Formats: sequence, C-alpha cells, structure tokens
Amino acid sequence: DPDKLPGAHALAYLQSKLRDVPDFPKPGILFKDITPLLADPRALHITIDLLAERFIGERIDLVVGIESRGFIFGGAVATRLNAGFVPVRKLGKLPWKTDRLTYALEYGEAELEMHVDSIPKGARVLVIDDVLATGGTASAAAELTRRQGGVVAAFAFVVELDFLAGRSKLDSENARQAVYSLVHVGG
Ligand code: PRP
Ligand code: MG
Repeated sequence: DPDKLPGAHALAYLQSKLRDVPDFPKPGILFKDITPLLADPRALHITIDLLAERFIGERIDLVVGIESRGFIFGGAVATRLNAGFVPVRKLGKLPWKTDRLTYALEYGEAELEMHVDSIPKGARVLVIDDVLATGGTASAAAELTRRQGGVVAAFAFVVELDFLAGRSKLDSENARQAVYSLVHVGG
C-alpha cells in the first residue's frame, strides 16, 4: 500500500520515476522529465497525497496552478484541500479579461495571464507547479495573485532544482511564505 510507505522511501520512489534527459531543450541542460512519474499510478498517488498533506490544517482557499505542467498537480491537490482552482496561463489562452505579467526566463522572457476576477481579496492561495527552477514562473504567478488582493500562503513543487536558487528568489519576495518541494535535485 503506497500510503503506508515511510516518507524517505516514498521520496526515493518518486525520485526513481524522474527521467534525466541530457541536452533538452538545449545543449548543456539536463532536463528532469516527470512523465514516468505521471504514468506510474503509485508515484502519481504518492505525489498528490504528499503535496496535499503538507497543507492539511492550514486554511487554503484557492490553488493557483501554472500552465501547463502545474495544472496536473494543482487540480488534484485542490480537490484534496477542498480548495478551488485558478489557472495561470500563457499569453492568449484565457477568454475573459486578464491581468498579465512579463517575466524572465533563463534566456529571454515570457508572459503569464490570470483572469482579473480570479482571487477574492484576502483569499489564501497555494501556488503549485511541477518544477521550481529559477523561480521566475512561480514568482510571476504569486505577483498576479497579490495584485488581486490574494495572500500567497505557500508554494509547492514536485521537484526543486536547488542549484538554480529559485527558493531564495521566492523567499526574498515573500518573506513569510513556505516553499515546499518533494524532491530536491542538487547540481
Ligand atoms: C517549466 C516548469 C515550470 C518552469 C520553471 O515550465 O514546468 O513551470 O519551467 O522554471 P523557472 O522556475 O525557471 O521559471 P515551461 O515554461 O517549460 O512550460 P510547461 O510547463 O508548459 O512545459
Ligand atoms: Mg511549467
């Protein structure tokens, strides 16, 4: 029964389901592919349970999930926490009025959008994505949340690339917020 695995074994199991892909999307980058984890029923179940369990007993009104891989985990975790789900999407995908934010990628920049009426003032929000790398994406989602008067209670990720120091970017912008990642990848 996957629910009875001790924590360290569960995390080692998740780590074993990440596939390293060299030179994707460009030479020199070692890409952490989560599709083996998604395809494994036990790993997927453990991942969703662990992400949600960390926040049981805290008031989370909404989960903000970031397109596209953050949608997979965000929706499932929202149901576990009896929270609603708000999508942050890439430019041009949302049909209603949006607020948008340009953010830095490792090379270049991109834009994220959120519907303008997504977050009631004072709502407590958990921002979820699959990977924390430089922190630019999660930071943009948090800023869009705060602009509407939402309170970013915490961030949660399946994988954190420790060597890119995204955590310190989020910490410096969100003094009291928790940053929770299941699997840490050193470098
Ligand atoms: C990846 C990943 C995170 C983000 C992390 O998404 O899924 O969302 O990059 O990088 P950062 O911390 O340096 O901002 P990507 O933009 O590749 O899009 P996808 O989720 O649609 O594949
Ligand atoms: Mg993404």
